[in-house]
Amino acid sequence: MTFLGKFSCRLSSRLEARPDYIPQRAEGYPRRRTWKTTASVSFPETNRSLALRLRHCRPLPYPQSELRGFCQRVCASVKTELMALPLRFDGRVVLVTGAGGGLGRAYALAFAERGASVVVNDLGGDFKGFGKGSSAADKVVEEIRRKGGKAVANYDSVEAGEKLVKTALDAFGRIDIVINNAGILRDRSFSRISDEDWDIIHRVHLRGSFQVTRAAWDHMKKQNFGRIIMTTSASGIYGNFGQANYSAAKLGLLGLSNTLALEGKKNNIYCNTIAPIAGSRMTENILPQNMLESLKPDYVAPLVLWLCHESCEENGGLFEVGAGWIGKLRWERTLGAIVRQKNQPMTPEAVKADWIQICDFENASKPRSIEESIGKAMESLSKIDSDGRVSTNNTSHEASSTATSGFVGAIGHKLPPFSSAYTELEAIMYALGVGASIKEPKDLKFIYEGNSDFSCLPTFGVIIAQKSIMGGGLAEIPGLSINFAKVLHGEQYLELYKPLPRAGNLKCEAVVADVLDKGSGLVILMDVYSYSGKELVCYNQFSLFLVGSGGIGGKRTSDKVKEAVPIPNRRPDAVLTETTSLNQAALYRLSGDWNPLHIDPNFASLAGFDTPILHGLCTFGFSARHVLQQFADNDVSRFKAIKARFAKPVYPGQTLQTEMWKEGNRIHFQTKTQGTGDIVISNAYVDLVPKSDTLDKTPSEGAELQSALVFEEIGRRLQDVGLEVVKKVNAVFEWHITKGGKAVAKWTTDLKNGTGKVYQGPAKGRADATIILSDEDFMDLVVGKLDPQKAFFSGRLKARGNIMLGLKLQTIFKDYAKL
Ligand code: NAI
Repeated sequence: MTFLGKFSCRLSSRLEARPDYIPQRAEGYPRRRTWKTTASVSFPETNRSLALRLRHCRPLPYPQSELRGFCQRVCASVKTELMALPLRFDGRVVLVTGAGGGLGRAYALAFAERGASVVVNDLGGDFKGFGKGSSAADKVVEEIRRKGGKAVANYDSVEAGEKLVKTALDAFGRIDIVINNAGILRDRSFSRISDEDWDIIHRVHLRGSFQVTRAAWDHMKKQNFGRIIMTTSASGIYGNFGQANYSAAKLGLLGLSNTLALEGKKNNIYCNTIAPIAGSRMTENILPQNMLESLKPDYVAPLVLWLCHESCEENGGLFEVGAGWIGKLRWERTLGAIVRQKNQPMTPEAVKADWIQICDFENASKPRSIEESIGKAMESLSKIDSDGRVSTNNTSHEASSTATSGFVGAIGHKLPPFSSAYTELEAIMYALGVGASIKEPKDLKFIYEGNSDFSCLPTFGVIIAQKSIMGGGLAEIPGLSINFAKVLHGEQYLELYKPLPRAGNLKCEAVVADVLDKGSGLVILMDVYSYSGKELVCYNQFSLFLVGSGGIGGKRTSDKVKEAVPIPNRRPDAVLTETTSLNQAALYRLSGDWNPLHIDPNFASLAGFDTPILHGLCTFGFSARHVLQQFADNDVSRFKAIKARFAKPVYPGQTLQTEMWKEGNRIHFQTKTQGTGDIVISNAYVDLVPKSDTLDKTPSEGAELQSALVFEEIGRRLQDVGLEVVKKVNAVFEWHITKGGKAVAKWTTDLKNGTGKVYQGPAKGRADATIILSDEDFMDLVVGKLDPQKAFFSGRLKARGNIMLGLKLQTIFKDYAKL
């Protein structure tokens, strides 16, 4: 039996021994707990606080390696540091309610000992809330002053919250920390609780904490600092016989705290809740003497002090604490089951049928916010709408496939559309951020809007796309609960369909292309399509690695991944080196990546880095510029695509060395930091548009198109396999072939009638689908290099009519390669 379990039993048996106690135990129902306690660690806050600091940053994308090992490094270095430095409260003003004895007294003494000025509040009544007096508070004030500390007394009830805060302001001029601790008991079995017993418990615990906290709130907001503690109880969390009034009020405090944590966050006001267990007059009749000894209030106070220290970023947490042990609690939710079918009534029988699965905590999720909570309902809605199927399986294997099917809800999920305008100013700022400089005359076109060839660097295409996924939409992906502190930017792919306009407005559509389970984490492939007007300008794929979320049996690979490609096994064909400036990250962040990791030394050191590090996408921009300069003479119209994997961090001031290999139109590259030799970008490449294709050539009348040869060949082969193909495809396709952006030929493949037919020109009857694509892409399609669906979604292939027939194109060219 757990410690708390024993305590609870003991408490129950004591209550049962009381003459006024009538047990109300319901037979046959095991107590169900919805809170789950984590294991205790000596510094549970360290990772959490740093994680929260990271959560303050803009959503990451920054290199996976930048934060890999982050927790270990922090645990080693920060833990030692934290232990070495005493936590002081000099200059802080703390109000402790109910500080005339028990836990409150221990808090007041501990804060005063560490430099705080303390308001010792206590009404001075008995533990049931009868009577009042000043001696309890006075004694503690005297004790503090005797030891050289600063304290004043307040004898009001917490229900008069304003008066308590006024005492702090009058005596010390400010209020920084509020410990809502005052409390009484009116234990009664449920049926015997009087209105008065119910009300007074709520007035002292819940309303009192509200009154005191509200009185302090605006002062905390103005000074942009505040720390608040709410005191709940295991009775509230788990329930306890004879304490219905107290349990209800105590869990109400947790709800209050959860919301204050959200509302106060932007003003650096954090609110946490503790469920203590300690020997005090409240528990002296319940716990045996030897147990009281080991449950000193002094064993609770250190947690309260840490949670209230300015360096602690814990917010909205719930902790059980006592006897020198501390554990954190969180919500856990089963995967549940969908028990409704599309257009069908929902029945209690369906609930009964799925009851085991509904209650099965195997593979349970841990929702942390109302968004995550509602997300599940939304996901179910869309599932019901899309397939209406009911899942009734309840084996653990099925549960894990439900976990995977959770991704099915995520896959295809679209983030809210996002638009952002930019001018030459943003384009120039970006170019400077990735190292374009007047030192290099050829760079002038990127940094001077008056240059006759002024151009936007191609990799600027990542900037607005990145903003579109930073807007908070990631948190709302159904079926995925993302801890932003654990999101790493693993890889990046960017493809341009035309040079970026020098200024404009890009509309981005971001969609979850796939979710992969790599064991140690999940990889979310975020595809972002950026349009200028209706025209698709560029496509990005962000590979976001969610550390620690994997291992739940999802698929490991996907044909949606834009793969990184190993570099050739030979000496590079070209190497360019360039020293980044000490201000490089400071400059780059102005393009929109405000993560403090790249500018704030304190933040960087907490994350385990000596100094702020450069943005991974900044190094990416440097490398792309090097390739463009070396192999395309800075001609942005030749830049087609780039893929890079982020391998290690770079510090501003370091020299980057881009090693490049030319293989046809593909330039493989890797980037190292000179001196250390570390590879910081690996397995990367840039695809260039062949020089000839960039010329705006219009084919002359009758010029040979490659597609023409293929269509003629298809016509010939249909004579052998036409019947079979027609049976399978059963559609007429009209093809519009383009060259240099202009339509140059029309063909029809009739795979619906007779044994099939191919002829030049538009369809003689009605075409089921019209396909428009370039001569080159048609060839890639035929030889299987281009996937028709991908080509459609990336805008390379356009379709009209029954576009679902596009799916059959693969069948035509794959299964019937002999065509
Ligand atoms: P305690 O009875 O020793 O201290 C409570 C103090 O609050 C008393 O000094 C009392 O005079 C004061 N107080 C009561 N009503 C007040 C009012 N209206 N205005 C101002 N002061 C008032 O009890 P203990 O054990 O130190 O409890 C402190 C808090 O911890 C309480 O909120 C209690 O519910 C909670 N708690 C304690 C547990 C324990 O094991 N001791 C277990 C779970 C929760």
